[in-house]
Amino acid sequence: MDSHVIDLRSDTVTRPTAGMVAAMMAARVGDDVYGDDPTVNQLQAVVAERAGKEAALFMPSGTQSNLAALMAHCERGDEYIVGQLGHTYKFEGGGAAVLGSIVPQPIEHDPDGSLPLAKVAAAIKPHGPGLGVHFARTRLLCLENTFNGKVLPAGYVREAAGFAHGKGLSVHLDGARVCNAAVAQGITLAEACAPFDSVSICCSKGLGAPVGSVLAGSREFIVRAHRWRKVLGGGMRQAGFLAAPGPGPCQRRAAGQGPGRHPGTHRRRASHQHGVREVPGAPLPAPGTALEGARDPGPDRTVGAAGHPPGRERGGHGRVRRGGEGLLQGEVMPPPRQPDLT
Ligand SMILES: Cc1ncc(COP(=O)(O)O)c(C=O)c1O
Repeated sequence: MDSHVIDLRSDTVTRPTAGMVAAMMAARVGDDVYGDDPTVNQLQAVVAERAGKEAALFMPSGTQSNLAALMAHCERGDEYIVGQLGHTYKFEGGGAAVLGSIVPQPIEHDPDGSLPLAKVAAAIKPHGPGLGVHFARTRLLCLENTFNGKVLPAGYVREAAGFAHGKGLSVHLDGARVCNAAVAQGITLAEACAPFDSVSICCSKGLGAPVGSVLAGSREFIVRAHRWRKVLGGGMRQAGFLAAPGPGPCQRRAAGQGPGRHPGTHRRRASHQHGVREVPGAPLPAPGTALEGARDPGPDRTVGAAGHPPGRERGGHGRVRRGGEGLLQGEVMPPPRQPDLT
């Protein structure tokens, strides 16, 4: 039965809960290009507060949020340091270079997802008259947490950000799933975001909302990003319908009282892992992963969602097959009366 087959590709192949849909239907809206949408304004205020930043900006996607951040930090001909497998480098169509005229300087990750500081140091170019005229100006370090489902060690994050700041760089976090990192480490979202000048948080990943990301940082940074959002086509009119599912989950998951007390996703993941272990020959999740952990199970294996009554798992319906780079891919098989997600 479809409802006993789960889709392990990603936490993005979810569907909004009934509560989210109700919140969208009931949303108070206005024209967000004029800053008039009360629901968007509420989401921005909540996320800014929970992330410990001065201001925040609702964005249509994580990709655009990261790109607006890079463009707000860097000018044409500047350079940012990023991991070889960093989402902003490898999985966002080269937007920083294509649309921002920003030069990526990718470096190898350590196995835990961190970027070794010796390599970061070696990648920073001299700038100014003389030798410096040869190089793009290194302006930014970009980290990702969680990275491929792994939580970056908090000590490393603090050290890396301190190091970059000491070299005059700004530091951006692709924190698509930073709420999961905070829950996994038992710290608040503000603590997880504190080392960074800017953070992009996806509402549509571990938080389960159908659309949207929020970029947070200083007021002045958000003013710059706001302009780039418009340039990139991300200024939306009655966007409150899209923002409405965000504040609830963000508040619950990221609230000071939250991490550790609302670990629903993590509890379900543990239950999922338990279920997968029951399947003969099924892969074990990668050690140390916070959320995404399932490894390639081999060709055309269907993994059953053991332990989940039909209809309980939100979105997870698919036939698992071998995917690129050890990730799982699947064919989405929508349950009855649900639109196809592909
Ligand atoms: C770590 C990370 N950053 C950014 C993004 C981009 O988000 P979006 O798909 O909303 O553009 C993703 C998407 O999966 C992601 O995994």
